[in-house]
Amino acid sequence: MIMAKKKEEKKEYTLEDLPGVGSATAEKLRDAGYTDLIELAVASPKDLADIAGIGEGAAQKIIAAARKYANVGQFETGDVIYERRKKMTKLTTASKNFDELLGGGLESQSITELFGEFGSGKTQIVHQLAVNVQLPVDKGGLDGHVIFIDTENTFRPERIAQMAEALGLNPEEVLKKIHVARAFNSHHQMLMVDKAMELAKEYPVRLLIVDSLTAHFRAEYVGRGSLAERQQLLNRHMHDLLRFADINNAVVAVTNQVSSKPDMFYGDPTTPIGGNIVAHNATYRLYIRKSRGNKRIVRLIDSPALPDGEVVINITTEGIRDP
Ligand code: GTP
Ligand code: MG
Repeated sequence: MIMAKKKEEKKEYTLEDLPGVGSATAEKLRDAGYTDLIELAVASPKDLADIAGIGEGAAQKIIAAARKYANVGQFETGDVIYERRKKMTKLTTASKNFDELLGGGLESQSITELFGEFGSGKTQIVHQLAVNVQLPVDKGGLDGHVIFIDTENTFRPERIAQMAEALGLNPEEVLKKIHVARAFNSHHQMLMVDKAMELAKEYPVRLLIVDSLTAHFRAEYVGRGSLAERQQLLNRHMHDLLRFADINNAVVAVTNQVSSKPDMFYGDPTTPIGGNIVAHNATYRLYIRKSRGNKRIVRLIDSPALPDGEVVINITTEGIRDP
């Protein structure tokens, strides 16, 4: 009896459970990005009416029902948050300078964004992290698995093998702990975070990489008219990533390009894509610049707790190193 009741409490409602929402309306809503009740719960009646082609009254009813059924989350007491914060760990970059810039390495339970122009080394750095996270804790690793969401087909096992060998790790073993998924468009990319959450129940995933965070969004939502939608989806995506980081005490590293030609909104050519949404959701933002030869300059920007600063790193055959 008790079991049955528990099960009922846990029932997950879908869009079709809402009053006046049939399969056609549900489809329209999903296409517009309202895939979850929580999104409907916080929607404006007017937007919803426009998107679903219904009256505002009907939209209000849907929103009211969504608020009732949605899993809106709950309050946590400070001590619970404190306990979680105490578990926060740091992942080494394999460069002492770089680690010092970050106060010891990339922090778990947060998102670190690497942005810079093509060839600046973003993909190289996340490959290095995918190896490092497998190191034992006393060597700066997190003794964990990696999920690599690859949107540009730039994951290279050969490169991982080189970096692993350089650290004295068995390349095959290292590759076995990297779970790679290609994401073919932005929706697919967002879905992969749900999949990642499932995979993390099976393996001790301590690092989630999205390379590139913004490329699909940028290519798919072109022009002023679609900017609001792009930003809304990116915002949701980053919230999902942060949730992943929190729940799994994991490091999340995402890459982002800078616009090479002045964008209509973010005019400066060195401005990262994704504007304020990405900026506000990333806990640490690193700007990578090319320098002479294999040298790269890494700058920490707008960190909440660390001083801004920059260091030089080298991209070598062995991986990321101090010059
Ligand atoms: P986009 O994805 O195009 O925006 O660029 P990115 O920032 O991801 O650049 P990426 O990390 O792919 O950097 C490529 C650069 O890394 C190359 O131009 C090389 O300078 C360097 N690199 C890549 N592999 C090696 C290697 O095996 N040895 C050395 N020494 N350098 C390498
Ligand atoms: Mg790249």
